[in-house]
Amino acid sequence: QYSETVMEIPQSQRLGPNTGLDLVRATEAAAIAAARLMGRGEIEEADQAAATAMAAALANLEIDGRLAMGEEARENIQTPITRGMRVGTGNGPSADLVVDPIDGRRQLAQGRAGAVSFAAITNRGALWAPYPAAYMEKIVVGPEVAPYLVPECLDAPAGWTLALVARATRRNVRDLVVFVLDRPRHAHLIEEIRAAGARVMLADDGDIYGALLAAMPGTNVDILMGIGGAPEGVLAACAIKSLGGAMLARLAPQSETERAEIMRAGLDTKRILTCDDIVSSNQIFFVATGITDNILLRGVRLAGDRAETNSLILRCETRTRRLIFAEHLLTG
Ligand code: FBP
Repeated sequence: QYSETVMEIPQSQRLGPNTGLDLVRATEAAAIAAARLMGRGEIEEADQAAATAMAAALANLEIDGRLAMGEEARENIQTPITRGMRVGTGNGPSADLVVDPIDGRRQLAQGRAGAVSFAAITNRGALWAPYPAAYMEKIVVGPEVAPYLVPECLDAPAGWTLALVARATRRNVRDLVVFVLDRPRHAHLIEEIRAAGARVMLADDGDIYGALLAAMPGTNVDILMGIGGAPEGVLAACAIKSLGGAMLARLAPQSETERAEIMRAGLDTKRILTCDDIVSSNQIFFVATGITDNILLRGVRLAGDRAETNSLILRCETRTRRLIFAEHLLTG
């Protein structure tokens, strides 16, 4: 599924090799702002604080940037980061971004593990942004299974796909771990997975994080299945393509209103998309900063005028995976 060059990029529009290092400042800033409100039960306030901090950091990027998709479709959040917003200094290559200042807002508000700040950037026009879709069905696997994932997996019983994963990884189905969001809509899926003999990792929130677990080696998660947010799916596709994994996605409206809006926008709810359909360039940088602890990234540590952050930076072109620890002197 991974293709070396999907979209031709003129030299002047290429994103520099350090773009990820610049972009990570935005998730670091959002994570620090969010962490201040950890466990305080204030979802909206945390969201505002993280988005405001992220917007300020994005404004400094040397790009002519545009936000391709925000979370407006899923919730009516008052956020300073919305679809179509211009970001960056206006100098530099034209780029499209997709961001989620806090994925796992409830987890953060309750002081639970698993809240992460995410952002991704690619060339202008390379991102498929399915606004006003709010929900998307997803299957995510890592590089070992990627060549074997076929579109039929989205409609087949879960056991069929799990047998394919087991064959590709030379393991038993009973050894596989499937990441699924803990939602009533997944009751049948969970039954199918259990009936096939595989193990389920239920998560309260956070399916971008779940997609990373499924696509990265050594996490004890083999596959993500189920329905989550559409912007989260676009962000996940940027990460999975950068990791050499594979994703199958299809819009999955969760209400008649959402279905009608999707239809009005001319979007196809039957179309099965891969990572290349969602992000058609291989100039992608994906960044994540832990807010509360999780198995990939330690959360933010705050002490007086200092904060520590742990971030992941992925660069698709070179498949580089960087883990960045940073200590910040907080001013103001
Ligand atoms: P937020 O933190 O932005 O609310 O998203 C959390 C999340 O679990 C996402 O990771 C996931 O894609 C989406 O919510 C699923 O939506 P819902 O909670 O409506 O099932």
